[in-house]
Amino acid sequence: MTLKLPRIIGHRGAMGYAPENTIESVQTAAEMGVQWVELDVKLTKDDIPIIFHDETLERTTNGSGLVAQTLYEDIANLEAGSWFGDSFAGIKIPTLEEMCEALIHLDLGLNLEIKPCPGREKETAEVALDHLSRIWDNHDNLLISSFSHVSLETAMEMAADWRRGLLIDEWPENWKDLADYLQVSVLNINGNECTREQVEAIIDMDYPILAYTINDPQRARILQSWGVDGVFTDVPDIIQESLLTIH
Ligand code: G3P
Ligand code: MG
Repeated sequence: MTLKLPRIIGHRGAMGYAPENTIESVQTAAEMGVQWVELDVKLTKDDIPIIFHDETLERTTNGSGLVAQTLYEDIANLEAGSWFGDSFAGIKIPTLEEMCEALIHLDLGLNLEIKPCPGREKETAEVALDHLSRIWDNHDNLLISSFSHVSLETAMEMAADWRRGLLIDEWPENWKDLADYLQVSVLNINGNECTREQVEAIIDMDYPILAYTINDPQRARILQSWGVDGVFTDVPDIIQESLLTIH
């Protein structure tokens, strides 16, 4: 299994141009020539894995309350496009399964970020991987990542050979031990906060690096010059253009 990391990963699809974490967003990313997208998965109250970022429904839907307290049948009735723009009215929150079908059809690679609601770190990984194992065959273009060490540990126990990425925001002192223990293939770092020294320390340990969330072409070029392998971006067309110019 070779994981060939892309230089550009569409963040939540292409969230600069379409409502994040929706089928329309990954279609938009594909139209821009992106080869991989990053999406967030979490569980409804009745354990259905859905593609959704926030713990609460308010920001991106016409619903309200906690995702963890809402049944899928109620989530399925929500509208998740109008907040972004009138032309997206009527868009639904996809299940993990619906999203995977769309991604496979579009031939897109997936970095699935396990984004558990608090206290659901283990079960979110369990359910997401269980669903994925029935849908996703090509492990050359699948990366599981999380900020949650419990979620990553669960993923490791369930499917040791699936590629994992350790998401880092605040730089933990023990990042090497964590990466080693969780047997990750890549470190996914905050590309707007990281220093050159941090990037070089990771490269010294032979880990590939993905950096989030880079919407500034100049920052993308700097990170690339430091040796970062790929960036997550809301605006793939802009970053793509800027990175291509130096090749
Ligand atoms: O996976 C990279 C990035 O998506 C992590 O932060 O909050 O956008 O999910 P967030
Ligand atoms: Mg994410």
